[in-house]
Amino acid sequence: MNKIFLGLMSGTSLDAVDAVAISFDSDEQMKLLGTHSLALTAQLRADILALTQPSDNEIESLGRVDVEIAQLFAQCANQLREKLQLNATQITAIGSHGQTIRHRPYLTPPFTLQIADPNIIAELTGITVVADFRRRDVAAGGQGAPLVPAFHEALLHSDAVNRVVLNLGGMANITVLPADTTQIVYGYDTGPANVLMDAWCWRHLQQSYDKNGVWAASGNIIPSLLEQLLLHPFFAKKAPKSTGREDFHLDWLLPYIKAEYQAQDVQATLLELTAISVAQEINALAFAEGELFLCGGGAYNHALWQSLAQKLPNYRLLSTETIAIAPTWIEATAFAWLAKQTMEGLSGNLPAVTGAAGRRILGGIYQA
Ligand SMILES: Nc1ncnc2c1ncn2[C@@H]1O[C@H](COP(=O)(O)OP(=O)(O)O)[C@@H](O)[C@H]1O
Ligand SMILES: [Mg+2]
Repeated sequence: MNKIFLGLMSGTSLDAVDAVAISFDSDEQMKLLGTHSLALTAQLRADILALTQPSDNEIESLGRVDVEIAQLFAQCANQLREKLQLNATQITAIGSHGQTIRHRPYLTPPFTLQIADPNIIAELTGITVVADFRRRDVAAGGQGAPLVPAFHEALLHSDAVNRVVLNLGGMANITVLPADTTQIVYGYDTGPANVLMDAWCWRHLQQSYDKNGVWAASGNIIPSLLEQLLLHPFFAKKAPKSTGREDFHLDWLLPYIKAEYQAQDVQATLLELTAISVAQEINALAFAEGELFLCGGGAYNHALWQSLAQKLPNYRLLSTETIAIAPTWIEATAFAWLAKQTMEGLSGNLPAVTGAAGRRILGGIYQA
């Protein structure tokens, strides 16, 4: 009988809860059964954003938002289940990424915190929930992020061609998949993808993102600004490394913005910052050529795609659409897959990626 898992994801962009249903047949062949998405309300988004920075009375707010976002996750899962006409008993488990509100892998001691109470999700869906995937990796000395590379390997490794997977969410992360299986699979966060562009777009156009990168494409890169932004210490860090809103946010950007700058030129520069910081890492790999699979919402940004294609002449750029999973759904699918790993007693982290002392079975299980 096919085994069905749901994946629930909300990333640093705070745009939406994404849900997928996947099935595995007796040969372990994965199939995407369906997808669903629910936008975060403006209030919930604002509450989560507030929690990403230290402030007063955080525990009271944390307690409330932990429940509210879990209710949204559960609603999203239930609507997907109904859309697919499945019973809760037909689904083995939900893998819930939760919502990251603080990611501090470089503090002593390090910590990372994802909320969306899995007890609520289990109660409201009647389905077993696997959640809190990152903290076990951190406990084992890892960054707790990125966790998608093990799934990228399972999904996209090829014996014939070197591949790199680029996830363009709020932050950008790469997974390096050498065709030669004696070489190690690794990956890390390269810096911001959309987070700064989204914030700047909101500030000037009151739009949550720059659709297809049209606004950025109308501007000109400001070389002196780009140079300053590239001095952010995260870019010089050696992998394993991971980042979040703690490192890249509007208040970090604003002091660099001079009054005479045109808003669209700043947007063009932020797009270039993403493209350069990604391309530098990929060009530093030992591959003479390869395929670059783009996923995450930023894969729909034409201007970013073009800039990357120009900077990476030895790579063929592909959307994950070509393997029947649209860019939007890859990360939620990864967490459905990670739930399967956990339920089957298999590890979900790659120590070469996170820096953990070893492979670990990730997450806690909250029974239906
Ligand atoms: N058509 C588009 N053009 C440009 N950017 C887009 C488009 N669609 C989505 N995005 C970007 O993708 C982001 C959401 O990507 P997502 O993969 O959900 O990130 P996260 O995991 O951080 O939530 C949006 O905030 C936006 O910046
Ligand atoms: Mg998202």
